[in-house]
Amino acid sequence: MLISHVKLQNWKNFQHAEASLLDVTYVLGANATGKSNLLDVFRFLRDIAKPQGGGIQKAVADRGGLKKLRCLHARSKPEIVIEVHLSDNFDDPVPIWRYVLALKAESSGIKRPIIAAEEVYKLVDGKERCFLRRPDKDDVLDRERLTQTSLEQIQTNSDFRELADQFSEITYLHLVPQLVKFGSSIGGQTVESDPFGQAFLERVAKANGKVRTSRLGRIQKALSIAVPQFEELKFVRDEITGRPHLEARYAHHRPAAGWQREDQFSDGTLRLIALFWLLMEGDSLLLLEEPELSLDEEIVRNLPRLIEQVRRSTKKRQRQIIISTHSQALLDNKSVDGRGVLWLDRVQEGTVVRSPSDEQLELMREGYSPAEILLSKAHPKDLHKMVLN
Ligand SMILES: Nc1ncnc2c1ncn2[C@@H]1O[C@H](COP(=O)(O)OP(=O)(O)OP(=O)(O)O)[C@@H](O)[C@H]1O
Ligand SMILES: [Mg+2]
Repeated sequence: MLISHVKLQNWKNFQHAEASLLDVTYVLGANATGKSNLLDVFRFLRDIAKPQGGGIQKAVADRGGLKKLRCLHARSKPEIVIEVHLSDNFDDPVPIWRYVLALKAESSGIKRPIIAAEEVYKLVDGKERCFLRRPDKDDVLDRERLTQTSLEQIQTNSDFRELADQFSEITYLHLVPQLVKFGSSIGGQTVESDPFGQAFLERVAKANGKVRTSRLGRIQKALSIAVPQFEELKFVRDEITGRPHLEARYAHHRPAAGWQREDQFSDGTLRLIALFWLLMEGDSLLLLEEPELSLDEEIVRNLPRLIEQVRRSTKKRQRQIIISTHSQALLDNKSVDGRGVLWLDRVQEGTVVRSPSDEQLELMREGYSPAEILLSKAHPKDLHKMVLN
């Protein structure tokens, strides 16, 4: 199942936004247009639904409270509304699941975030059936219930546990190579859900031995083409500390020079390893922030093909991916399905999400790449006027 559609009201810089999502969706936009904010909608649903440390109160508090979440342009309808659809195929006319969540602040006291509405619909025998509509009579009798979503309550979500499970497994990665390389010397705690990949090596360590060897073998194959002189990749545990490490061997080293550990890998190599690993790791939605960072333009140009290849080669269900990017090279690839490219357009009151028009899709079918058709629209205008004085 994939998240096939998202609709937002008053979410951060999106006063109103709506988009259909493909198996692989690229979110294109200039700096500060809201790419990360859009990905954060799915992380927010994950944070509500995750079994440990989840829940709406914490998810909102972690983002600085409702005031920071609500769009600054919000006026007549102050509620924050998120609606997502889940389908087997993105073009199914009616989704299998539809989830709607509306949030507002309590009218008195410490003004906690409360549920203004929560609705769940499921397609049963070709008809959409309502499984939940809140506030319900129990909420009226006990207002305290409105401080929790039904997603986070296993006592009440048995009819739509599948939906909560899908959300709770959403994975986000904005890998910061230095955190992987020097995480243990920097010390401190790993941020919850590890968005920056600090615990990436632990993740590799947790995989079953056979699975790990097979995945690293496939990564090694891809890296031996992408990274000059790269020959072998293996997983080891430090004999003294027991900490997990990755080691690589390069062809240009003296035969006795030995293996290099991840703190000696290039940033790009580490980012590629993490990207490929995550593509193979699960079957839930994967959110990737700017995978082009630290990578050679030619590698970036080939990423859509590599991503597709890894997705197709997994025996499990293929992962849905949403990728934020500024990269011309990434979208200069005719294999990218133009229907899966969204671009963020700044308007008077925030940002809107745009999909290619029929005319633009036709041009892409004729052989133009999404970059050729859409990128100029996503760049800020008047950049030549930018000065520092
Ligand atoms: N509640 C809000 N209402 C309106 N705008 C907001 C709100 N919260 C954040 N923003 C705006 O969203 C913008 C940041 O969005 P975001 O970080 O998603 O951008 P981005 O496209 O990921 O940028 P980059 O390419 O630099 O990573 C900022 O300009 C910020 O002012
Ligand atoms: Mg960003």
